[in-house]
Amino acid sequence: MRLQHALTLLTALLLTPSSAMCAEKPSIPLAEICNGSLDEFPARPDTEGVHVGAHHGGVIFAEGKYWWYGQCLSPKAVADMGSATERGVAMYSSSDLIKWRNEGIVLSCRNEGELKGPLRFARSKIVFNPRARKYVLWCHYVRFPGAHGVEEGTADAGVAVCDAINGQYQWCGIQRPLGPNMTVKDCTLFQDEDAKAYFIFDTYPKDRSLRRRLYMAELSDDYRSCRQVRPLEGLEAREAPAMFKHNGYYFLITSGVSGWKPNPARVHRAKAVFGPYTDLGDFCRGDDTGATFNSQPTFVFEIRHKPGTFVYMGDRWNLRNMAGSSHIWLPLKFTSPDNFEMHYLKRWDISSWRGLD
Ligand code: DGJ
Repeated sequence: MRLQHALTLLTALLLTPSSAMCAEKPSIPLAEICNGSLDEFPARPDTEGVHVGAHHGGVIFAEGKYWWYGQCLSPKAVADMGSATERGVAMYSSSDLIKWRNEGIVLSCRNEGELKGPLRFARSKIVFNPRARKYVLWCHYVRFPGAHGVEEGTADAGVAVCDAINGQYQWCGIQRPLGPNMTVKDCTLFQDEDAKAYFIFDTYPKDRSLRRRLYMAELSDDYRSCRQVRPLEGLEAREAPAMFKHNGYYFLITSGVSGWKPNPARVHRAKAVFGPYTDLGDFCRGDDTGATFNSQPTFVFEIRHKPGTFVYMGDRWNLRNMAGSSHIWLPLKFTSPDNFEMHYLKRWDISSWRGLD
């Protein structure tokens, strides 16, 4: 009986985002981001105290607020398809980047068809198309039951659109920018100052006759298809792309390829969007950088109210309970107009940019 009790407790511990210390300490100021120690999985509570379920996602400023979106994962181990979603892409809103209100699921799984769940809307990213006045979402789509492959439907780009940032996104279908033989895996979107938008994706041929590489596609006027697709030289065998621009430089952060296990990220820099990109190496600094501070990049956003302040968003995957994976947010520190580094902060104050630990 005692053993059974212990097992129940152990299961509860594994299924609950552990180290929910940020959520539980009443004395912590409101403006605090909590990343925990490198081996912890701190919870990021929404306004109802529930851990934010927006993995592989991003943050966009729109309609006067910040919106955080991403895949709502299953509370299962990664090996049991915990990396797929039965629900879809979730959306949260905030005016201070700290208090996040759950806005619900904006791209839902269905009972049948292309959206039959569980599936993966991996690495969903959203940009606003000013010409069409629509929000456009791109993702790495993996059909039911969410098992990776090379056939169409298991490694494709998925597109959805919506008139409102937090409305119900209308599914536009799947596509392969380089044709049916070339897969689409990890991906991201980048929108330039001239309102051109780009889809960056990892690809290799179905027969794997070429090494995997990141490609970049300029999106069409409605942002729903690709019109110019080019390989990114020097970006072979890279995943988890996250791109941003500062001081006229394009920065492309990527991870290496090791599945869900973290590895040291790198940053590449260019003066033109298609490159050539220069490899600046690992941008993490400190005594214990480990593997990107035990995280994998998903996005970088600039704080609208603090121009020039960029926040790295990473996923710290909890392989035993994917829904309990942590959201790691760290400020990027520019050391010169064309370079930056990232230091680990267990806790930091997003309003004053003060490291607390
Ligand atoms: C590589 C990605 O970067 C990870 O986030 C994850 O999606 C794995 N693939 C799954 O195999």
